[in-house]
Amino acid sequence: MYLTGYADKFSVKPGETIKFYVSSKNSKYSAELVRVIHGDPNPKGPGFKTEHVPTDIDGEYAGYEQVLYGGSHVIVNDAASFNIEDSFTITAWIYPTMPDSGKSQAIVTKLSKDGTKGYGFFINKRGELALWLGDGNTSDCITSGRKLRKSNWYFVAASFDQPSQTLKIYQKPMGWTQASERTISEKHIDFNRIQFTEDPLYIAASIDVNGKHRKGFNGKIELPTIYKEVISIDDIDNLSIDGGQINQEHILASWDFSIGMSTQIATDIGPNGLNGKVVNLPLRAAIGHNWTGENYIAEKSPGEYGAIHFHEDDIDDAGWDTSITWNVPKDFRSGIYALKTISGDKNDHIPVFVRPLLGKPQSKIGFLLETNTYLAYGNEHVLDANEVMPTDLVPNWNQDINRDELDYLKENNLHSMYDFKVDGSGVAYQSRKIPILNIRPDFITPSRGGPHCLTADLIIADWLEEKGHEFDVFTSEDLEFDGKKLLEQYNVIILGTHPEYWTLKMLKAMSSYLANGGRMMYLGGNGLYWVTSFDPERPHVVEIRRWGGTEIWKAEPGEYYHSTTGELGGIWRKRGWPPQKIAGVGFAAQGFDVGTAYELQEDSNNSRVDFIFKGVNRDQGIIGDHPSLMLNHGAAGDEVDRLDFGLGTPPHALLLATSAGRHTKAYHHVIEEMFTTDSSQHGEVNEFVRSDVVFFETPKGGAVFSTGSINWCGVLSYDEYNNDISVITDNVVTRFALDEPLPPIPG
Ligand SMILES: [Fe+2]
Repeated sequence: MYLTGYADKFSVKPGETIKFYVSSKNSKYSAELVRVIHGDPNPKGPGFKTEHVPTDIDGEYAGYEQVLYGGSHVIVNDAASFNIEDSFTITAWIYPTMPDSGKSQAIVTKLSKDGTKGYGFFINKRGELALWLGDGNTSDCITSGRKLRKSNWYFVAASFDQPSQTLKIYQKPMGWTQASERTISEKHIDFNRIQFTEDPLYIAASIDVNGKHRKGFNGKIELPTIYKEVISIDDIDNLSIDGGQINQEHILASWDFSIGMSTQIATDIGPNGLNGKVVNLPLRAAIGHNWTGENYIAEKSPGEYGAIHFHEDDIDDAGWDTSITWNVPKDFRSGIYALKTISGDKNDHIPVFVRPLLGKPQSKIGFLLETNTYLAYGNEHVLDANEVMPTDLVPNWNQDINRDELDYLKENNLHSMYDFKVDGSGVAYQSRKIPILNIRPDFITPSRGGPHCLTADLIIADWLEEKGHEFDVFTSEDLEFDGKKLLEQYNVIILGTHPEYWTLKMLKAMSSYLANGGRMMYLGGNGLYWVTSFDPERPHVVEIRRWGGTEIWKAEPGEYYHSTTGELGGIWRKRGWPPQKIAGVGFAAQGFDVGTAYELQEDSNNSRVDFIFKGVNRDQGIIGDHPSLMLNHGAAGDEVDRLDFGLGTPPHALLLATSAGRHTKAYHHVIEEMFTTDSSQHGEVNEFVRSDVVFFETPKGGAVFSTGSINWCGVLSYDEYNNDISVITDNVVTRFALDEPLPPIPG
């Protein structure tokens, strides 16, 4: 990328400081703050609209390229006890997922930057185990000569016997295998002493000439252990059997990953306490070689969760140099801004969401920017990476849009939580301290050929401004940490196009707000869906475990619980929080070809909702039958939700309109509602494939209005912002923003 970057936070309060980290190919760039009004550059809509806001950011800056170093590993600082000069043994359980990658992958290494000192246990480029030793001048190695099989547990060992100058490698696969698969290799070398190095010890990586990690391991490693003497083959055999033990006094270090699974610490249970730091978000709470299936909660049976699943493309905090620091003035207006960087004819917009101070709201309307969803979709390239995706399901897919961005993602192995790691595992964690190229106000999502996430939510922001509604913004993270106090400052909270990723605290805060007179407008689809958690130690990291829902990947059996909080992942519906309980509607279907109109229902004539339809022409019985900035047409489309009294829609809820029976064959019923495979799941035949528009009152003058469609907002600006969807939305926000309570729940 010519210009890219990220900030140290998504949202910032007046009086606080935000830091920006910029990478520029050019040696100079200029920067300024802009207020972002509308993002999607599509000429059929309002177009890309920003305005310069003079701040002390304005100016020219020296630029240089900053790079990304991915690859998860454990790093252990140097210690005198690591300085083995004579005999030793390394053992571990390993589950290599890419032994056939043609790349060297480190298991345990204590090597110098030039590789001539120390020792290292690897999988070599041929997929065989290899032990390297360096005496300060030269290095020598032994390989097993037998390829490891992919996705199979092995007990492995490597040793050096100094008096006899013998290297040995041992590998034994788990499971019913031919006895000959237990391989022992032996080599006599002409080698005096290992020359020690002060460079750190790595697990799942080794050091390169610049002191950075490289040769990342793909797969699981469990209980890597170093012994300060040679362990006999009988003893190694004994260790490879569950419950097998040998004399512990020979242990130099042994890292038990079942301890502190929610932390970044790799605990050494050996006598020297050589704890390591877990870097770049490998998967913790991963099942080990001995998982029986009897227990499936890591906290309840930690001994079966002793593995860490490493990937060469895991990443946490890019750790770039600070380029620009901005102190937000104390009276700064809440809103959606961006740091605009400019170099030649290139520019970039790093978003900045300015929220008000707690207790000092600036408007009656609070707009939740669901940054958890932005993060989950952050750096998404699943279609670009997957050439076999059936294109009839994504007919708007445009492979040429944002080519520079997609190429940068490929070059740097960056992924969204909809993508796959290099070894095919799903992406369970996402950090916001990296460049996230699609959280940009003007980003068009290639798979949809239109706006999504932030770009889509900006349609609402622009529309609110156009209609004269002042609003404050805040993020998922703000809601997580400030809870209902944040919500209670507002007469109405707007949820945008796709508020999908919620934590329990966020759900509870919203639920309690609504029970106490709060009002919510849910203007999206597939909301309140995935169980999401913030890492308590690193709030810039979110975690999910996909299972049980309509999902692009599945967590491995036994790995459904979050490592960061210990809670059960999956969809909220399976933890007693169907979205219908809060929003009145919940995920029903998805399709990405085109949206459709809604048919008004009998409840739309109820006097309780007269205020919603004021000024709307209802003669045709249809609303939302307009061109859309999303999926070309129709207010009902993309991911859509339906009412279900059995799943928690309040009994007094009114069904105002539905798109039932109007969707195409490209729309399909969600997987969690399908009990068996059959031919009646698509939009032309399945009554559950629909978006329902719902209204209901909540206690103490509160209320909820839900559209259950990502596409709803795509038509807001159609016909100079004058169309039935715009009028309905305006009527609701105008009434909900008033101090005056809504009528009570009808008896
Ligand atoms: Fe989604």
